[in-house]
Amino acid sequence: MDKFILHGGRKLSGTIFIGGSKNGTLPVMAAALLAKGVTTLLNVPHLMDIRTMSNVLRVIGAQVYGKGSTFKIDASRCNHFEAPYDLVKTMRASFYALGPLVARFHRARVSLPGGCAWGPRPVDLHIKGLAALGADIRTEYGYVEASTKGRLPGGSFEFDTVSVGATANLLMASVLAKGKSRLINTAQEPEIAFLIRFLRKMGACIRETRDGLEITGVRELRPVRMTVIPDRIEAGTFMAAACLAGGRITLKNCPVEDLACAVDVFEKAGARIHASKDSLVLEGPGTVRPLELSTAPYPGFPTDLQAQIMAVLALGSGTSIITDTVYSDRFTHVPELNRLGADITLQNNTAVIRGVRELRGAQVMATDLRASAALLIAGLKAEGKTEISRVYHIDRGYEKIEEKFRGIGARIERIKDESLF
Ligand code: UD1
Repeated sequence: MDKFILHGGRKLSGTIFIGGSKNGTLPVMAAALLAKGVTTLLNVPHLMDIRTMSNVLRVIGAQVYGKGSTFKIDASRCNHFEAPYDLVKTMRASFYALGPLVARFHRARVSLPGGCAWGPRPVDLHIKGLAALGADIRTEYGYVEASTKGRLPGGSFEFDTVSVGATANLLMASVLAKGKSRLINTAQEPEIAFLIRFLRKMGACIRETRDGLEITGVRELRPVRMTVIPDRIEAGTFMAAACLAGGRITLKNCPVEDLACAVDVFEKAGARIHASKDSLVLEGPGTVRPLELSTAPYPGFPTDLQAQIMAVLALGSGTSIITDTVYSDRFTHVPELNRLGADITLQNNTAVIRGVRELRGAQVMATDLRASAALLIAGLKAEGKTEISRVYHIDRGYEKIEEKFRGIGARIERIKDESLF
C-alpha cells in the first residue's frame, strides 16, 4: 500500500485546474445503460471508483473504453443483469446499476453494499422507492432482486431523508416507465442537477416541481455525448488546504456557484476569496477564526468537506463546533488529527475543536476518502514530517493529488508500495 510523506510549513501558491467530478460521473455512467448505442463522456477523472464502475458495467455486458479523460460506454449488448458483491462492497455507488437495469431490462440482481467505515449507510430508500414505482422486490442471499412484467408502471415516492443516491437511482428507474412518477423531497446536489440534464439530453421527460420531480416515462432513450461537471469537493479540498497553510491559490475550471456555502464558511474562517464565473482565488488568513457549523444536504455545507474544514479549524484561534447532520458517524479522522496535535473531542455527531497553536508531524492512517484529505491538509501545515499510510483511500476520489499539491509548492511525495520492501 502506497504512503505519502509530507514536510509541512510551506505556504501554497499557484494555479490548479479542477478535474471532473467523481460523484457527477458515477451516476451518468450507470445512466448509459438506459440506451442502446455508444454514450461518450468527456472530462472523466482517472480514479479507482471510476474503474470500479467501469467493471460493474462490463459485468453487465456493456463495453467501456477510456482514452485520456474520454470514456465511451456501449450498452448495446447487455446480457447479465447483475452487480456482484465483489464490486459493490468496494464501492457503494455500484448500487446505481439497480435503477437503469430495472428500467431497460425489467430485472436486476444487485448486491447489498453492507456497512462502511462510518456506519451502516442503509439502502432502504432505494428499495422502498423502487417498490413504490411498481417493481417486485425481494432480498435474498445478500442481493436485491427486482423485476417487473414489462415496463415499470411508475408511481409516487416521498423521501423521508434526503438521499443523493436514492434520488439518482429512482430517477434512472422512472425515465423509461409506462406512466408518470412523482419523487418528493429529492436531493438537489449539483451532481443530481447534472444527471437530470444528462437524462433530458437522452430524451427523458423530467419536470421540476415545488417539492421534487415529476417524470413522464418515455419508450426509449438515445445515447448522448456530454462533459462531466467539475468536482466541487476537489475544489473545496484545495480551498481548505490554502486556508490552513496560507498563501494564495487560483482554482481554474472551478464550480463557483456550487460552492457558495463553502465560500461563505472559508470567508468566515478568515480567508479572502475573489470568484468569477469559473475561477476562484483564495488567500489564506494569518489566523484562522473559530466557527460553528453543521453539514446539510445541498445547498448546505457538504458532509464531504466536513473533515477538511475540521483540519483547518484545528488551528483556529478559539473553539469551533462541527455537527454532521448527514452522517452521524463520519469522524474517523478525529483520532488521526489528534495524533498530529489537534485537540478534538466528540459528543455524538458533534465535534468540539479547541484550536491549538501548532500541529506536529506524525505517522497517521487514512481511513476513508475525505478523512485522508483532512490528514493531508493538516500534514501540509504541521511542523516536520508526516507519514500518511493507506493512501488508496485518497486515490479513490482525487486524481494526481500529490502532483497537484506539488504544483502549488507543497512538499509531498508518494512512496510506492514496492519500494517499502
Ligand atoms: C452521496 C455521495 C457521498 C456524500 C453523500 C451525502 C456519491 C457517490 N456519494 O452518497 O460522497 O457524502 O451523498 O452528500 O455521490 N440514507 C438512508 N437510506 C437510504 C439512503 C440514504 O437512510 O436508502 C441516509 C444515509 O444514511 C445518510 C443520508 O441518507 O444519512 C444521505 O445519504 P445519501 O445522500 O444517500 O448518500 P450517498 O448517495 O450514499
